[in-house]
Amino acid sequence: MERTFSIVKPDGVQKNIIGEVVSRYEKAGYRVAGIKMAHLTKAQAEGFYAVHAKRPFFGELVNFMISGPLVLLLIEGEGAIKGVRELMGATDPKDADEGTIRKDFADSIESNIVHGSDAPETAAFEIAYFFNALEQF
Ligand code: CDP
Ligand code: MG
Repeated sequence: MERTFSIVKPDGVQKNIIGEVVSRYEKAGYRVAGIKMAHLTKAQAEGFYAVHAKRPFFGELVNFMISGPLVLLLIEGEGAIKGVRELMGATDPKDADEGTIRKDFADSIESNIVHGSDAPETAAFEIAYFFNALEQF
């Protein structure tokens, strides 16, 4: 059984589709093993996206991620890391496949509704970054 980390980003919360995103994960056979809402500080968002610190979009990405509350999700299931990424769709909604979350709801490559871990190492880091042991079920 594999675990991955996902976020309903501030634009997803604003669009009132928290339930829609969670439902897509659940209907695909994944289980919610942790869930909570947060409004990140700048330092928390910078730490989370530290791998992107040198990218030109980093400042705007951090500002977007702290622009409102978001939903932190711990998702469990067979092949959850790849499976959640497939449900999300490509980073740029213009490139996303039909029926994916980003194709259906995202406005742009910046405001793209969801985050999902991209590998076992990043999943482990991201889960531990946001969920302590008592918050994982
Ligand atoms: O989220 P994903 O793993 O698909 O993409 P990423 O390459 O890890 O980039 C992280 C996030 O940075 C994206 O989801 C976008 O919100 C943002 N981004 C951006 O604003 N402009 C880009 N050219 C690339 C990414
Ligand atoms: Mg990524």
